[in-house]
Amino acid sequence: MLVTGIAGYVGSHAAAALAHSGYEVVGIDNFENSTAASIERLTSLIGGFAFVEADVQNTDRVADTLRDHKVDAVLHFAGRKSVAESVSDPLGYFRTNVAGSISVLQAMARVDLHHFVFSSSCTVYGNGDGPTDDRGARSMAETDAVAPCNPYGRSKAMVESILDDAALAGLVSSISLRYFNPIGAHPSHQIGEDPKNPPANLLPHVMERALHGGEPLKVYGDNYNTIDGTCIRDYVHVSDLAHAHVAALESLGNEPGHRAVNIGTGTGHSVLEVIDAVERVTGRTIPYDIVDPRPGDAAALYANPELALERLSWKAEADLDQMCDDHWQWHHSRS
Ligand code: WQD
Repeated sequence: MLVTGIAGYVGSHAAAALAHSGYEVVGIDNFENSTAASIERLTSLIGGFAFVEADVQNTDRVADTLRDHKVDAVLHFAGRKSVAESVSDPLGYFRTNVAGSISVLQAMARVDLHHFVFSSSCTVYGNGDGPTDDRGARSMAETDAVAPCNPYGRSKAMVESILDDAALAGLVSSISLRYFNPIGAHPSHQIGEDPKNPPANLLPHVMERALHGGEPLKVYGDNYNTIDGTCIRDYVHVSDLAHAHVAALESLGNEPGHRAVNIGTGTGHSVLEVIDAVERVTGRTIPYDIVDPRPGDAAALYANPELALERLSWKAEADLDQMCDDHWQWHHSRS
């Protein structure tokens, strides 16, 4: 299996799940937002694997890698994933996320390779427009409208559309996994989130306060129409998410086609509820200030996870405290 973005957060965890399931892993990464240390940690966890340092936009390098290692499927993680950053750098996001995916698909076509698992995102839904629950949040199903509200979500929706057309052209059998919010770390705590660039996500910022104190955490808005006014998200354990990729890979048939599947727990938690959970598992107090809402943020959504169970026999196992504990153990182990 070729794992693009293997040095990244989800890519490294998916590689661990693939290796654990007996698959041979080949990795490619350009270290744009990761370091070689991630490869070393993954190697110590799963043993040696073939690794190519390259940008997935170098179609020749990708095609050579596929050919040289006799790859029979691609799991494509390489990309940028910050909603906030995509608002200020839309062209960079479309270049990396859309052009990069096209490059990988063209390399696959050159070597007659047809199986593709894509790292998509719940941000394709935007805010959603269905009814909200008693906590002010919406359960999103794959049949709900694709209506992203930021460039990151639009980049993922564009690739999903490309996969629809690639399937119609008989080029590829693919599945787009619409991740909700991945958090946590591998149960061994040997690998975890370790971005080279400053993270925008909630958990790294909360964990940093738990570990080192410092400036109060910024909570982006508390005037949303939710149970406590802060945004609600569906946080899913990164290892549960990784296992979903193995299930998705094994679900791919030989017939061309494309399907999108939500990967979430089916439960939403607000920002303040996440802070409470981290305080519970760490025993530390997390000071925070409420500041202005962050441009591009959706208000409150969580996954309807039924299709993943029906089509992939997959459902999330870990609860929020387990996710926060694994994230804390990883973060704490490196201090
Ligand atoms: C979560 C909530 C922030 C930081 C993520 C991934 C994206 C995609 C969807 C897979 C929001 C609030 C954050 C902080 C805060 N996943 N927040 N203070 O934006 O939902 O996107 O999930 O594709 O890749 O990035 O996640 O963790 O940035 O924000 O209050 O310092 O936490 O406003 O409501 P987001 P996030």
